[in-house]
This record gives sequence, structure tokens and C-alpha cells, in this order.
Amino acid sequence: MKVFLLGCGNIGRFLAKAAQDMDEVEEIIINDNHPEFIIDFISSLTKACLVDSFELIDDVDLVVEAASQEAARMILPMALSKGKDIMVLSVGALVDDDFREECRRLSKENGGRIMIPSGALCGGDGLRSAAVAGLNEVELISTKGPKSLKGVKYLEDKGIDVEAIETKTVLFRGSAREAVRLFPKNVNVSATVSLLGVGFDRTMVTVILDPEAKDNSHELIAHGDFGTIHAKTSNRPFPENPATSYLAALSAVSALRRIISNEWIGI
Ligand SMILES: NC(=O)c1ccc[n+]([C@@H]2O[C@H](COP(=O)([O-])OP(=O)(O)OC[C@H]3O[C@@H](n4cnc5c(N)ncnc54)[C@H](O)[C@@H]3O)[C@@H](O)[C@H]2O)c1
Repeated sequence: MKVFLLGCGNIGRFLAKAAQDMDEVEEIIINDNHPEFIIDFISSLTKACLVDSFELIDDVDLVVEAASQEAARMILPMALSKGKDIMVLSVGALVDDDFREECRRLSKENGGRIMIPSGALCGGDGLRSAAVAGLNEVELISTKGPKSLKGVKYLEDKGIDVEAIETKTVLFRGSAREAVRLFPKNVNVSATVSLLGVGFDRTMVTVILDPEAKDNSHELIAHGDFGTIHAKTSNRPFPENPATSYLAALSAVSALRRIISNEWIGI
């Protein structure tokens, strides 16, 4: 299998390293808009090469986006119009209804599949099953430490200094649609939850800052005819980027393994 990887930061590097050790992966073609930071890393992988264009997408079996919402908006239609399978980490890009429909149309017409790993959240499997019978309510409560929320423009514009907050504080409560727009790098899981459950407008999201928090936690609560889901995930952050959870990177590796083995347990 040949893989095109867009974005070689925390998740991209972790995935590339894991792919290097998979016998089935022949080549990992990497594009990143900051090649200067990844040249050394790539030279440590015998199967990887760095490119500055997208032509080689024609030759690959799988495209992986692990860059940003903006990058996802660019690469999704490009890959899908060529009939390529694409794994997307920046799930928030799919909040735009017209864009999402266009991606679905391209997928149907050309055969490429849109694959979204479970990311930093547990419980999505049950949510997807429960949605078959209809859901009354879906809520996601994300609790993060100050390092995870540093640099969020929405908070800066409101004059909120996350490092100066001393007690547990609700910073946002609203629809997943708003949450994805205001916290583009922090609440990708709310997009995944929306896609699995009741959509971006009916999924409620609360973002809490806990000055004592060492983990990024996500609490998924859903009610429906099936009963109730209450799934809490406490995620260790990546040391290099506290906005990203280790589990998100693990989920990308696990998704690649599933794709390669074509074995779908717990679907
Ligand atoms: N689905 C989930 O649960 C989940 C969890 C964590 C992170 N994420 C998302 O996954 C993505 C990657 O996360 P990360 O922690 O690896 O981020 P990161 O910031 O560590 O790495 C992103 C890399 O992509 C590159 N990049 C950004 N925009 C690009 C573009 N337009 N073209 C080429 N390269 C580009 C950057 O230079 C960087 O090297 C982010 O969008 C993040 O929000 C999703």
C-alpha cells in the first residue's frame, strides 16, 4: 500500500513511524507546509519521502489528512474526485453542510471512501448504533487544562487569559456547529459525535477549563430509545502539543491497521 500523508506534526509523525513498521506499507509520501521542521524526521524513515506538490496522489491507495481544517477542505475534494480513500483527522472541516454533501457526492460517484478515526473519544461505536433508533439528546462535555486552550483566538478576542483562571470555569456552551468554529483545533471530537449522532445543530457542547487538569477529558452523554450512554475518556496530551490527545494519534494508527487488514471488528 502507498500512503499520501498531508501534515506531519504530532499525529502525522506518530502515524508515519507506525506505518514505517507495517510490512504492507510500501511508501509514505509526505507533504507539509513547514518542510524545514520535518526533513530530519523523514530522513529517519526509509519508506518516506517529502514532496511539495499533490501529483503523487494519483499513485497512492490511501490519503491521510493530519494537518488542519483548512488543509482538509483542500485535500478532501482533491482525493475524492480521483476516487481515493481518505482518512480525515481534522473532522471539523465537515461542519459545512454544502462541503460535506459535495464530499459525499464525490465519494459516491468515484468510489473513494471517507474514513474518520474515533480520535480522542470513546463511545462513538455505541452512539452510531443508538442513532439507528433515533436519539433524543446528545451532549459532549470537554474539560481541558490551560495549556490545551492557549492560543484559542475566540478566547483571546474575549480577553480571556486561560492561564490566569484559578477555578473550574465553563468557557463555552452551545451547538457543536459553533464549537467547531470557535475551537477549530480543540473539539474535533464534537464534529465526529455530530456526524455519528444527531448532527451539528442538535449536539450540545460544553468546554470547561480546569486549571488543575492534567488530562483532556471528553464526556459523551446520549439518551434515546436504546437507553443511555455515559462514556468518559481521560486523555493524556502529547508533550509537544497539549491540544492533541495521545489517543487521537493511536486511533489513526489503529484505523490504518484496520484498513490494511480489512477486518472490521466493532463497526
Ligand atoms: N479527530 C480527533 O479526535 C483529533 C484529535 C486531535 C487533533 N485532531 C486534528 O488533527 C490535525 C493534526 O493534529 P496534530 O496534533 O498532528 O497537529 P500539529 O499542529 O502537530 O501538526 C499539523 C501539521 O500539519 C502541517 N500543516 C498544517 N496545515 C497544512 C497545510 N495546509 N498543508 C500542509 N501541511 C499543513 C503543519 O505544518 C504541521 O506540521 C489537527 O487539525 C487537529 O485539530 C483531531
